Amino acid sequence: METITSVSQMQEFVLAARQQGKIIGFVPTMGYLHQGHFSLMEEGRKCCDLLVLSIFVNPTQFGQGEDFDSYPRDLSRDSKLAASAGVDVIFAPTPEQMYPDGCDTNVHVAKLTENLCGASRPGHFDGVTTVVSKLFNIVQPHKAFFGMKDFQQLAVIKKMVNDLNMTVDVIGMPIVREKDGLAMSSRNTYLTANLRQQGLSLVDSIRKVIARAQAGEKCASVLITMAKQRIAQEPDAVVDYIQICHDQTLKDVACVDEHSVILLAVRFGLTRLIDNHYVLREL
Ligand code: PAJ
Repeated sequence: METITSVSQMQEFVLAARQQGKIIGFVPTMGYLHQGHFSLMEEGRKCCDLLVLSIFVNPTQFGQGEDFDSYPRDLSRDSKLAASAGVDVIFAPTPEQMYPDGCDTNVHVAKLTENLCGASRPGHFDGVTTVVSKLFNIVQPHKAFFGMKDFQQLAVIKKMVNDLNMTVDVIGMPIVREKDGLAMSSRNTYLTANLRQQGLSLVDSIRKVIARAQAGEKCASVLITMAKQRIAQEPDAVVDYIQICHDQTLKDVACVDEHSVILLAVRFGLTRLIDNHYVLREL
C-alpha cells in the first residue's frame, strides 16, 4: 500500500492506472476509520482494480465553533486498517496542498441543501461538494463509495455528479451499526459511557417509528412527535432536527410512503449525532 500526500503525484499515479485500463474505486473519508468506512472499502475492493482511500479532515465543511480542531486524527492507525481492507493507495494531503491559494471557487448544490443539515450547518454542504469535486478531479475514479449514514450528503453528491456531468458512478452503501444499534461514527469517540447510552435513543426512536408506521400510522407529524418524545427522555439530548422527508427531494412529507425517510440530528453534550432510516423498511 502506498501513501501519497501530493496532489500532482496522486494525479500522475491514477493517470498511469487509467492508461493500463484499470477501474479506479474511491472512498473519500476524514479518517479515524471504523466499520462503516470498512464496508465502503470492501465494496470498492470487490468491484475495482485500484482502490484509493482519501483521508482529509476538510476545514471548509466545518462551521465556526464546530469540531475541526478536535476531530480525531491518527494516520498510522488508519494506515494499518486501510492495508487490512485491501486499499492500494491512501491519499492524505495537507490543507495547504488542497487549498494552496485559498478557495475562491465553490460548488453549490441548491434546493437539496436547504433542509436538514443544510439548514442547521450553513455552508457545510458547499464545503463538502467543493472538496469532493476536487478529490474527484485528483483521483479520477470510475466509482466512488459513500455511506447512507450521511443520507443528505449522498443525495447532494449524486445531484452534483448528475448536474455537472461528472463521469463517476456514485454508489451508496447501508449504515453500519454497533451491536446495540448505534450508527458508527468517528465522532462516537467523543461520547462518555453515559452519553453513549443516551445516544441509543436515536436508533430506539427510529425502531418505534417504524413499528408504528407498519401498524398503520401514516401521519408524519404523529410519528415525529413519537420520536421527539422518546429522545426527550434523555437528560442531555438537545434535538437539532427530527424530520420525515422524501428520499429524493429531501422535502418534508405529510404522509409516509415507501419513499419516506426519518432523519435525526441530536446533540448530546458537545457531540452531535445523526441517524436515518426508511420509515417503511425493516431496521
Ligand atoms: P466521513 O465522516 O469520514 O465519512 C466518510 C464516508 O463514510 C461517508 O460516505 C460516510 O457516509 C460513510 N460512513 C460514515 N459512517 C458510516 C456508517 N456507520 N455506515 C456506513 N457508512 C458510513 O463524510 C465525510 O467523511 C466527508 O464529508 C467527506 C465525504 C469525506 C468529504 O470531506
